[in-house]
Amino acid sequence: MEVFKNYEKLQKHLNPKESIGFVPTMGALHQGHLSLIKESIKHHQQTVVSIFVNPTQFDDTGDLDRYPRTLEKDLAQLASLNQNLWVYAPLVSEIYGPAPPVTNPYDFGALTQTMEGLSRAHHFQGVATVVEKLFRKVNPQSAYFGEKDFQQIRIIETLVAQKNLNIEIVRCPIVREVDGLAMSSRNTLLSPEERSQAPLLHTTLCAAKAQFLRQQSIDTIKQNVHEIYEKAPLFSLDYFNICDENRLQDIKNYPAPQARGFLAAKLGKIRLIDNMPF
Ligand code: PAJ
Repeated sequence: MEVFKNYEKLQKHLNPKESIGFVPTMGALHQGHLSLIKESIKHHQQTVVSIFVNPTQFDDTGDLDRYPRTLEKDLAQLASLNQNLWVYAPLVSEIYGPAPPVTNPYDFGALTQTMEGLSRAHHFQGVATVVEKLFRKVNPQSAYFGEKDFQQIRIIETLVAQKNLNIEIVRCPIVREVDGLAMSSRNTLLSPEERSQAPLLHTTLCAAKAQFLRQQSIDTIKQNVHEIYEKAPLFSLDYFNICDENRLQDIKNYPAPQARGFLAAKLGKIRLIDNMPF
């Protein structure tokens, strides 16, 4: 496994006759990331993993500064996986030149006017900007994304369709800790007390799903979720939505095929998200 800051140098080592699977990440790798990488290795002769903390997708500079950067540890985790694995860890200037762009070039319609798009105004513009740049450099057959960031997957699928990119987007299931907490690089920022309470997101989704399957009224399910968070002083609930998986619009009535529950909450200073198919 080799690490490159410069894509032209990395490219010289790739065999153009062999397929490429691509896994974009921001590092601080955990088993969730590794599950995507293993899936790519299973299906492609060559796998490229990018590690790049993308400044344009952070609305809050505090969040950007706090974001864990653990390159040495990340590389140690990757080293044992596969020989045909290439790590692309560019500097900000390699991706954006002297100054990151401030324009919002994409229109994803209603997909960005809900959930993460509401609380983080420019987030998906930044995600799409960096992912399109990386896709055009790496030019993979397939790219692997985690359902942990389900709205992000829908944005990337739409990006690929809008730009006519010939890349298969592979959805990978959420990897969880044994207590149900969805793995996330941000989990390492939680205090021990916060960490002990963090599985509440998962238990809330499980409880809401059970009510949904019994066809309780959607309003009642939402009210029950809000009551749980009113009684949890370390948390501040940002949203709980039940949406259809394609358009990500709120579901109001039954029958509701392809429904998914989405939850975001702040635990202390750290914002956590989770979701689950209903
Ligand atoms: P990052 O948060 O590092 O996540 C990289 C990939 O790992 C994403 O596709 C994410 O959904 C997936 N992932 C994270 N936690 C997971 C878990 N517990 N189970 C399964 N998959 C998980 O998402 C980003 O980076 C960035 O927005 C990026 C796409 C790299 C653009 O900058």
